[in-house]
Amino acid sequence: MISLGIETSCDETAVGLVEGDRIIADITSSQLIHSQFGGVVPELASRAHIRLITRITKTALEIGRVELEELNCISATYGPGFIGSLMVGLGFAKTLSFSLSIPFVGVNHIEGHIFSIFLEYPEIKFPFLGLVVSGGHTELLLVKDRCEYKRLGFTLDDACGEAFDKVAKLLGLPYPGGLPLEELAKKGLPGIDFPRPRVDGYNFSFAGLKTAVLYYLRDHKDASYADVAYGFQEAALDHLFNKISSAIESIEVKRVGICGGVAANKRLREKLKGLKREYGVEVYIPRPELCTDNGVMIAAAGLERLKRFGPSPLSLPAEANPSLP
Ligand code: KG4
Ligand code: ZN
Repeated sequence: MISLGIETSCDETAVGLVEGDRIIADITSSQLIHSQFGGVVPELASRAHIRLITRITKTALEIGRVELEELNCISATYGPGFIGSLMVGLGFAKTLSFSLSIPFVGVNHIEGHIFSIFLEYPEIKFPFLGLVVSGGHTELLLVKDRCEYKRLGFTLDDACGEAFDKVAKLLGLPYPGGLPLEELAKKGLPGIDFPRPRVDGYNFSFAGLKTAVLYYLRDHKDASYADVAYGFQEAALDHLFNKISSAIESIEVKRVGICGGVAANKRLREKLKGLKREYGVEVYIPRPELCTDNGVMIAAAGLERLKRFGPSPLSLPAEANPSLP
């Protein structure tokens, strides 16, 4: 069965085609316009999605050599995200579905990220501990099966990627700041020990760490930005590592799957090797282009939901902050 996935929740206009867990086409256009504002401007994002969505869909179909009539499922992200942006992809997908009489499925963006793990590792066994770390979310889940999750913890304030973006801005780096900050940190030296966030249970917090960087820069006018980037990155990634470790200790899972934009971070990937050494767990992280927002993860999640639960109603609204189904 062939599934088309449309993702327009934030500043990526992305369209993917999958057949089961096999990727047929994966086209993503990242909107550069937001860089000059140091963050995503929702109205500009919606306008760019409108300009791009038809062209990108056509390109994905051409590259995948798939005709519209061959599609078995048309999926789109319905939330979380910016309402205007979501409505562009959602409305486009519903229109295609209605006019071609092909089932439509609305996909939760966080569930979409989890499916990037299945696209890379279709053979992964259940249950596994899932961490979604992106610009908008930091969620720790027990993944019992495809489409079956138990939420264990979440961020109480900023998302991890959001903290990377905000600290990058303090260091004069462009938006989105995750990758530039990682590159700058490579040139930095250890020495600045920002306090590791302390939060109960499996929850996360990054706002205090961001403020600690702000105060450090205020009090150390001659600080090496590379050393600050290094210190921040270590503290942020240790926070993720510590929460994963404590979940492994009490839940006794054998596998950990990590996804979302921050999972593209090479230092995080390196640190997570420690989980295998310490606990003998297998760590599954998709390749970087599947970690950041894309259409294939939405296509894959939509297809699985269609098989399990049938199509979504065309009345499904866009939602800024829906909980995971
Ligand atoms: O999953 P994603 O593409 O979009 C959301 O759902 O938010 O994640 C984007 C986030 C941004 O905050 C970006 O700075 C961060 O992921 N990111 C990184 C890296 N690459 C992207 N953070 C740390 N290190 C990276 N290499
Ligand atoms: Zn995302």
